[in-house]
Amino acid sequence: MDNKIETGVGYEEVDFFEQENEERYKEYAVINPDMNKEEIVWRVNNNLDKEKYKFDVTVSNCNNLYIIVNKYFKLPEDYCPPDLVEVDGCMMREVVAEAYVKMRDTAQKEGFSIRATSAYRSIEDQQELYNKFLLSDSAEVVDETCARPCYSEHHTGLAVDVEGSIKGGRNISKTPEAAWIKENCHKFGFILRYLQEIVEITGYASEPWHLRYVGTQVSTDMKDKKIKSFEEYRERFLKMRNI
Ligand code: DAL
Ligand code: ZN
Repeated sequence: MDNKIETGVGYEEVDFFEQENEERYKEYAVINPDMNKEEIVWRVNNNLDKEKYKFDVTVSNCNNLYIIVNKYFKLPEDYCPPDLVEVDGCMMREVVAEAYVKMRDTAQKEGFSIRATSAYRSIEDQQELYNKFLLSDSAEVVDETCARPCYSEHHTGLAVDVEGSIKGGRNISKTPEAAWIKENCHKFGFILRYLQEIVEITGYASEPWHLRYVGTQVSTDMKDKKIKSFEEYRERFLKMRNI
């Protein structure tokens, strides 16, 4: 059923409806009259009706493979992932390292060169990085490309930035590796987390170098369902199953 501006009657029919958000669904529908109910509900449940960085929730399921860390959901200041290991000079969680090595080696066999440039970053590392960018740009500009400390997926040990055959992740779009990653990363359990199509959801410009590990079941299902944002997928297909 199309909600148009129907004042939101019937949101409870949506599987992942949350009673406490009902008024927010209605308000969000008024300013987004062309969105269907399901979209209204998954977006509001992700706090997308709120201003980024102004509606903080500190996550508690920090070691969960399906954790969401973004401009609405941050990590506690003392968080450190439990099972970090070093690969190619970067720290990542064990399961991610295994998947990364498989992806890197498969790419190599097919004639492509992929190498991690940054994976786990502590809150302090992120603060330093953010401050470094602030030396040359305003916070508004820096926020488009760099997460504030506690809000970076890199703190989870589940994110890996990679470079292709030209050094530097930011050059990856000039290399054939970018297309290889787009086509193949799901086979190893990764998704491209910051795509051009979902800038409005993530609040970050496109990052063809930033991979997030979610496991092959989820990465493959997202590809099959053509779902671009992990925010949408998690809300619609994981949360109801309590994972
Ligand atoms: N560049 C990504 C958004 C980060 O800093 O986590
Ligand atoms: Zn990254």
